[in-house]
Amino acid sequence: MDKALVKLAPSILAADFAHLGAQVADAEQAGADRIHVDVMDGHFVPNLSMGAPIVQSLRRVTRLPVETHLMVSDPDAFLEEFAEAGADLLLVHWEGNNNLHRTVHRVKTLGKRVGVVINPATPAAVLEEILQDVAQVLVMTVNPGFGHQHFIHTTLPKIRRVRQMIEEIKPGCDLEVDGGIDAATAPLVAGAGANVLVAGSAIFGDSDGVAAAMNRLRAAIDDDAT
Ligand code: DX5
Ligand code: ZN
Repeated sequence: MDKALVKLAPSILAADFAHLGAQVADAEQAGADRIHVDVMDGHFVPNLSMGAPIVQSLRRVTRLPVETHLMVSDPDAFLEEFAEAGADLLLVHWEGNNNLHRTVHRVKTLGKRVGVVINPATPAAVLEEILQDVAQVLVMTVNPGFGHQHFIHTTLPKIRRVRQMIEEIKPGCDLEVDGGIDAATAPLVAGAGANVLVAGSAIFGDSDGVAAAMNRLRAAIDDDAT
């Protein structure tokens, strides 16, 4: 993966919600490529987070694409709401969806980009038939539900496999990773073929501020020789 092409998607799950607009503005100014919004329903994952009104508010304060990671049991019930709120890309999980093809095409019908997400224990092979229909694959590098978890290193060979599948089946499809991405793990995932990196606590949890944190991540990716 060309290091210069690696994109950063700050996850607002780790932001200070009392100053969300300012935090997102900081990220945008520091060169963020997108804003990642984690939606959790307390059922698909054991945590609650935020819904479409947050996307609607963000839409008014940033020009960056907003991607919505739907960690919910029935994504179809929310697609329209998030599309109307102004999300640019909707990320839906493979797990628990018996009709993924239908969900993916519903997103497309709404005029939005669509991505499929796989959890750490889910093999890359499940993507084979759906890959040609999506703009992005998100490989979870932690189990979804919480920020600030440890990166699961056994996901690295899978990232490599997904990169291979993308080159064979859908060149141009984005390969994103999410969970435990920091200055130590960013070069590993970029080296394995990821071109979009989600980072929450490594960006919004850094005591030196958002810009310094993003520069550190970019430097770690650029310096890496792999
Ligand atoms: C986890 C979420 C992630 C989370 C990542 O379920 O999908 O987007 O915000 O947080 P960090 O970067 O702190 O691991
Ligand atoms: Zn996420």
